[in-house]
Amino acid sequence: MEHPFWKAKFLLDSAKDLQRIRDSGIEEVWIDADKGLDVPDGSAAVSQEQVAAEVEQLLVAEVDAKPVSTSLEEEVKRAQKLCARSKDAVVAMFGEVRMGHAIDAERVVELVDEITASVMRNPDAMISLARLKTSDEYTYMHSVAVCALMIALARQLGLSDEQVREAGVAGLLHDIGKMMIPDTILNKPGKLTDAEFNTMRDHPMAGLKLLKDNRDISAIVLDVCLHHHEKVDGSGYPHHLVGEQISLFAKMGAVCDVYDAITSNRPYKSGWDPAESIRKMAEWSKGHFDQAVFQAFVKSVGIYPTGSLVRLESGRLGIVMEQHATSLLTPRVKVFFMAKSKTPIPQQIIDLAKLVGREKIVGREAPEDWNFPRLEELWSGLPSKNGSYFG
Ligand code: C2E
Ligand code: SIN
Ligand code: SIN
Ligand code: FE
Repeated sequence: MEHPFWKAKFLLDSAKDLQRIRDSGIEEVWIDADKGLDVPDGSAAVSQEQVAAEVEQLLVAEVDAKPVSTSLEEEVKRAQKLCARSKDAVVAMFGEVRMGHAIDAERVVELVDEITASVMRNPDAMISLARLKTSDEYTYMHSVAVCALMIALARQLGLSDEQVREAGVAGLLHDIGKMMIPDTILNKPGKLTDAEFNTMRDHPMAGLKLLKDNRDISAIVLDVCLHHHEKVDGSGYPHHLVGEQISLFAKMGAVCDVYDAITSNRPYKSGWDPAESIRKMAEWSKGHFDQAVFQAFVKSVGIYPTGSLVRLESGRLGIVMEQHATSLLTPRVKVFFMAKSKTPIPQQIIDLAKLVGREKIVGREAPEDWNFPRLEELWSGLPSKNGSYFG
């Protein structure tokens, strides 16, 4: 057989070798799923619960302490105002760009620094509030949310203050190219046709074009704009980059982008529960995301992120409030309902870290199965006006 490898059987563990296989004349490979991972739709594919268990095991032991200086309840109030102001600022900035004006980089940095300050006081507040968008607000609030997620992830990865700022700016501007996509496609309430999705795939390049002549915009930000839809297995766009060809910041952008997209209400789909979203991303993650970056992301938002609906061993249902500083499995939870009798119980915030051995999370619950009308109010304490929290 003609092929570029010196062995015909080997452990395929590098993206480079995968690309060499793709580039060679090889038409078929045999995957021994007993010895390693299968492709996602292979017959020996692992079950969803197995993936979730793997993620949990990987993560339980090693979360670095995250000191927070402000409680969730306190920071939420400030974060709501900041979200509202950020949304207005992004609407204005993106509108300017649409009219052909240059983006004011100084203003962007000021906004990113304010969001960073909130994330440093308490990351759960800004990150979780920015998730609560209506589909009309999606494009703008998605920028704010990805900004906050990028900041938290950059800090989790131990990046420098300057790099944290770059990550935040990149998050805020990553989808600016969507301003060049016709509204009928961008806000289409249903599934895109192939032709429409092809148009949509121009948005990374359009974003690059909008920003590239601006000397105050860094190469990192341009790179995230252009490459946040690349996937490590080479199936992304626009350049089909593989593994290490994708920069750290673009890999971070990919993870934060997808998490906020699937947890949000969008014109074409309503948002999923945060813990459910983490589990789905873990399932897709092998082809789409860089594994180390994805793991750091889970450490920064949690396995049961703020706002997740969970069932406790006692049979109570609760909504996750705040993450614990070092353990992903023992957040603070507000209990409010008895699953078996289907009756409300007095609302009470319990700290699972202090109840080890007596109470714990036994799993996620699908909010669709329960129909609680005001779940988000339970953890945020905030009322919404016609569904919007940000005016
Ligand atoms: P977006 O809505 O901000 O989604 C960003 C990325 O999140 C998507 O990039 C995809 O990687 C991931 N994502 C979002 N929803 C799902 C999902 O249900 N399942 C999975 N596996 N991944 C999901 P993608 O696919 O390249 O799409 C780029 C943009 O194209 C989207 O940004 C959205 O604006 C638009 N788009 C994609 N599909 C549709 C659609 O069916 N209808 C409409 N109206 N827009 C769509
Ligand atoms: C899917 O399962 O829909 C594909 C996941 C991905 O975005 O890689
Ligand atoms: C409850 O049923 O106790 C409250 C649920 C909700 O506010 O969604
Ligand atoms: Fe995008």
